[in-house]
Amino acid sequence: MRILVFHGPNLNMLGTREPDVYGHTTLSDINAALSTRADELGVEVWAFQSNHEGVLIDTLQQEAARSDGLIINPGALTHYSYALRDAIAGVRLPTVEVHLSNVYAREPFRHHSVIAPIASGQISGLGWRGYLLALEWFAATRSAGGA
Ligand code: DQA
Repeated sequence: MRILVFHGPNLNMLGTREPDVYGHTTLSDINAALSTRADELGVEVWAFQSNHEGVLIDTLQQEAARSDGLIINPGALTHYSYALRDAIAGVRLPTVEVHLSNVYAREPFRHHSVIAPIASGQISGLGWRGYLLALEWFAATRSAGGA
């Protein structure tokens, strides 16, 4: 089982970006934790970050055919990117949307996700551990294809 982990705009700045909201954990820390857990679960993870909507879409289209699922924190694209939503719907990978912060406890513009309706589920507010929980869900449901 191969799971894509996509990180959207500004998530390369984790650790120094608004640590009161996002914590002190860096993106490398998150990817390392995912890699360790993936080894334990017998799953392959492939992590990618971009600040560019089109690069995320291009890379998703390139990688989807050899992958079984997508964990994505789309950053602010969550709230308005119909292009990213269409790309995810188009590749038909089971998808878990992850947010470090509890977007529903923040500004109103963060309360709406255009990605959530085409995702299998969403994890919001559990910090970096949310990514690991998403990975564990994929591993637990692997024989059912994400059901
Ligand atoms: C975020 C929440 C988004 O609203 C924000 O634009 C981000 C990070 C989160 O992980 O909590 O960039 O996706």
